[in-house]
Amino acid sequence: MKTINDIDVKNKSVVLRLDFNVPVENGEIKDNSKIVKSLRTINYLLQNNCKVVILSHFGRIKSEEDKLKNSLKVVGKELANLLKRDVKFLDNCYGDKVKNIVDNSSLGEVILLENTRFMDVPTKKESGNDLELAKYFASLGDVYINDAFGSMHRAHASTAGIAKFLPHAIGFLVMDELEHLNILVHGTPHPFTVFMGGAKVDDKLPIIKSLIDRCDYLLLGGGIANSFLKAKGADVGASIATNDENVLNELRELMNKNRGKIVLPVDFTIDDGVIYDLGNKSIDLYKKYLENSELVFVNGTCGKFEDERFMEGTENLFRILSGVRAKVIVGGGDTASACKKFGFEDKFYFISSGGGATLEYIADGSLKALEWME
Ligand code: 3PG
Repeated sequence: MKTINDIDVKNKSVVLRLDFNVPVENGEIKDNSKIVKSLRTINYLLQNNCKVVILSHFGRIKSEEDKLKNSLKVVGKELANLLKRDVKFLDNCYGDKVKNIVDNSSLGEVILLENTRFMDVPTKKESGNDLELAKYFASLGDVYINDAFGSMHRAHASTAGIAKFLPHAIGFLVMDELEHLNILVHGTPHPFTVFMGGAKVDDKLPIIKSLIDRCDYLLLGGGIANSFLKAKGADVGASIATNDENVLNELRELMNKNRGKIVLPVDFTIDDGVIYDLGNKSIDLYKKYLENSELVFVNGTCGKFEDERFMEGTENLFRILSGVRAKVIVGGGDTASACKKFGFEDKFYFISSGGGATLEYIADGSLKALEWME
């Protein structure tokens, strides 16, 4: 696989796929980390006198109404602020008009096209990896750089198919992610402890199953812990937990096969019968495992950390992690946001910019979009 260092970009028009899927509330970007992390590649291309044609998705687009709520325009403004230069925002990502504007733009210009997933309505051209669309995207430049780590578990026209039609390479952000995440795939040091939290166990089962054979301890929090407790026969009331009998059976099986490895919480912060956070005894218990580890992977939080009544468990867990000797790798959008909120974003070995992509890479040692690249 070629990296941006191996490919000649000087004076070229570069189609750059980024993951600008940032959280936006009331028209305001709540966390610009993904944009900030993209700057290194953009600046490198500008230093090489490239025309930078940026593609990104934003949200999920299933209807015309979704398009109204998911424009990348707000990202274009933030990018211009961060780059301290003009960003030409085009309100479409496809068609003769877009091609004309891109072709007539000069080297040294940054052009951001509208959300690639607008092409999912009426037919799923982007998400379906339509090769005609991929060819069109490729027609906008001479070289393709994929630096959209957070989207690389998707084989879409702008992340995968396009690589068929242009010389291509990965960018600095993707290089950095793969370099740091590799330790979770090859040559993993032990003891290796995983903390898995968050709401839904159903989505996380594949990664849990993949990690359980490779880790020494799996510590649980959030709705995931509740589901394991429910599978053990505990009454979790109206707390978030799976109702799927097949999933509960799988959890039972996992616990039977991995006695001593799967560690469940022992106390909680409860409001009106509902579990919202882990209690101090649970965090103290987890501390013993974390302090003895050489590598820790954290995905998910202890509870509803957005609400200050229920943030203590997550904050204490991060505080402990900031002081352990282990390399701590944090993955998942919410987990990274929690790190930032509590001021621990510079305290860990690595914070991944990906959610699903991070988990897929750790589980499979590969990513769907990477498989389309030579
Ligand atoms: C993310 O935010 O995790 C990525 O941008 C992927 O988004 P998606 O799950 O909508 O493909």
